[in-house]
Amino acid sequence: MGLMSELQLSRRRAVISRLLLMLLLLAGCDGQFPDQALPEQAPVQDDCTDSVLSWDNTGAPFLLNHCTECHSQHLVGEVARKGAPDTINFNTREQAAALTELILATAIEAQADRPTMPPLIRLREDEKARMGEWLRCGAP
Ligand code: HEC
Repeated sequence: MGLMSELQLSRRRAVISRLLLMLLLLAGCDGQFPDQALPEQAPVQDDCTDSVLSWDNTGAPFLLNHCTECHSQHLVGEVARKGAPDTINFNTREQAAALTELILATAIEAQADRPTMPPLIRLREDEKARMGEWLRCGAP
């Protein structure tokens, strides 16, 4: 088997395991988001109630480490923001919560119709999974 096809295989495996992880996470959420965004969502009520994830222990460190270098309300102008849109800032829990679907689409699920964020760095899967759970549980 050539190198390329091995690479493709392992990439495919990574995609599949990510999808499985996503389903697990979706099953743990409590229905605060529009159905069309989370079609596989199971009506489990209690899991997010038990979640210990918060802005302080999950949302803030993730966004401050990986995103506010470009997406900060304190950065003004295209150069300082490295091209990041003015409307997308992650300085507060409220800002992040309001952008839940877009954060999921760009940084957690890497949806094909969105740019992947951050643009050049690959985030650790466990960090993404945790951030995804926090967002899907309502970004408390
Ligand atoms: C190095 C700078 C940089 C970093 C770091 C960065 N972004 Fe971005 N972001 C951009 C740029 C540039 C765009 C506009 C790209 C485009 O529209 O193709 C953008 C666009 C976006 C958008 C809008 C996408 C859309 O389709 O409207 C979202 C949401 C976003 N980023 C989220 C994030 C998140 C979440 C992180 C951290 C995980 C992050 N970004 C990290 C530069 C950055």
